[in-house]
Amino acid sequence: MIKESYEEIIELERQRQNHNVELIASENFPSKRVLDAAGSILTNKYAEGYSGKRYYGGCEFIDIIETKAIEDACTLFNCNYANVQPHCGSSANQAVYKALLKHGDTVMGMDLGAGGHLTHGHKMSFSGQDYNIISYGVDNNGIIDLDDFTKKLYENNPKMIIVGASSYSRTINYKDFRDIIEEYAKKHNGEKPYYMVDMAHVAGLIAARCTSNSYSICRCCNLNNT
Ligand SMILES: Cc1ncc(COP(=O)(O)O)c(C=O)c1O
Repeated sequence: MIKESYEEIIELERQRQNHNVELIASENFPSKRVLDAAGSILTNKYAEGYSGKRYYGGCEFIDIIETKAIEDACTLFNCNYANVQPHCGSSANQAVYKALLKHGDTVMGMDLGAGGHLTHGHKMSFSGQDYNIISYGVDNNGIIDLDDFTKKLYENNPKMIIVGASSYSRTINYKDFRDIIEEYAKKHNGEKPYYMVDMAHVAGLIAARCTSNSYSICRCCNLNNT
């Protein structure tokens, strides 16, 4: 039997976090303001649907909060639309698959072994089980192999391309991918795959304008608890 109370165990975890260097970029530390909001009475409320279109009554303040968060996200990331509903990165990625694809469609994503994420097509995840995944990777120097990516793009005509990584030490040039996709589209009657950037690890840097903004370049972007 575990004797400690929940509060005591949370305190132990707080101390662990304070005394260790966490090196996973997406496993970051929310501000107190975010922690307060996430653990507030807002958790008591059902709010399925979207602002103004809910399945439950009593959502008037939830609607205001969600609308405000959308406005702030659009300002922060300089984009036109945002979905701020609480997802982890994996379920947010799943939402994109569900919104844009049919079961069995072909998707290109970065191989887990090259630095990609499980949800970019690994067999252990829904992505590798429900979709036809073509993985691209890195060359011998550990740099994303754009020639191999281009070859696979033309060979497989994917419905969606995922760019972004869990473990890649270089800056990803989102525009390189877009240029390749635009070139491909010219040869395919203008048809092009959806271009999705999973920016889980760099969202904070993008928000702080420290690295290029994938929103201005791709069709949709996902981030997690950054
Ligand atoms: C690139 C990328 N996408 C998605 C995820 C999944 O995020 P979550 O752990 O919030 O489901 C991660 C996790 O680190 C990630 O690195």
